[in-house]
Amino acid sequence: MAVVSGVERLGAYDLITALDRFGPADPRPGQFYMLAAAGEWGGGADERPYLPRAFSYARARAEDEGVALDFLLEAVGPGTERLSRLAPDEGLALVGPLGVGFRAPARGTRPLLVGGGIGAAPLLCWQETLAAADSASGDASAAVLLGFRTAAHAQAAALFAGQPEVVTDDGSVGRQALVTELLATELDRAPNATVYACGPPPMLEAVRALCSERDVPAQLAMESGMACGFGACFGCVVPTRNGYVRLCVDGPVMDAAELETALVAGAGH
Ligand SMILES: Cc1cc2nc3c(=O)[nH]c(=O)nc-3n(C[C@H](O)[C@H](O)[C@H](O)COP(=O)(O)OP(=O)(O)OC[C@H]3O[C@@H](n4cnc5c(N)ncnc54)[C@H](O)[C@@H]3O)c2cc1C
Ligand code: FES
Repeated sequence: MAVVSGVERLGAYDLITALDRFGPADPRPGQFYMLAAAGEWGGGADERPYLPRAFSYARARAEDEGVALDFLLEAVGPGTERLSRLAPDEGLALVGPLGVGFRAPARGTRPLLVGGGIGAAPLLCWQETLAAADSASGDASAAVLLGFRTAAHAQAAALFAGQPEVVTDDGSVGRQALVTELLATELDRAPNATVYACGPPPMLEAVRALCSERDVPAQLAMESGMACGFGACFGCVVPTRNGYVRLCVDGPVMDAAELETALVAGAGH
């Protein structure tokens, strides 16, 4: 049981900070936690939300009393709406860190981070981790490309260090374009990249296809409906070139080369 230590409205999203006194202080970017509010979680007329919901952690800071975890969330249904109503000092039941996160860039390539909407969340801690490694090695920091629906969603871009390139569906921030257009331009300019992407399935599929055509290595942080988060329920299986895998234990970060498609039935919103 963690304790909520901060809540902040960030345009269309909520940034929730929880202090985890018992979990490891070093989750790896791309890993996730199963979250449930301690109170008002199921048991109502329709027993929803009931099951915990999966969230990538966006940032983690070791503190004296434990690790402070930031989660960026978008309220899309009963679970996320309850979590978006959390207040400081409330309990947050969490299980994690779970799954396999991002792996180092392929030798001789520079990392290129591509986020769509709430998919920006796991890229935040990955940018921090890459920047720490870069400052040790003297390499240039990773480029960040972000696409959002509207200016309210695009406020999440302010959480990133440096100057991420931002486009929106309605043109209210940056140009009116899809983030995959930015990716194509960036790969035309400098093809020697390892792409890290997180976002809705159609965006991930466009990233996968683009990188496959150009022989660019890519890692995709994917979603599927998760009931347990640790391999027990088989609710999260996705097809790969080598058969079905449980996304919660073999992912959520998958090598794009392992996938025929990133369009997973039942995932995304
Ligand atoms: C590994 C992982 C990491 C995630 N990280 C984040 C994050 O950092 N921030 C965030 O806001 N959300 C994240 N999600 C998605 C989040 O888990 C769903 O938004 C949440 O489960 C929705 O629950 P709900 O009760 O609010 O809505 P529901 O009523 O359960 O669903 C509302 C809508 O969202 C779709 N949906 C529900 N659950 C999922 C799911 N697990 N994956 C994809 N679509 C779903 C449904 O089809 C429906 O259209 C992540 C999901 C996974 C699997
Ligand atoms: S969520 Fe239960 S097996 Fe993956």
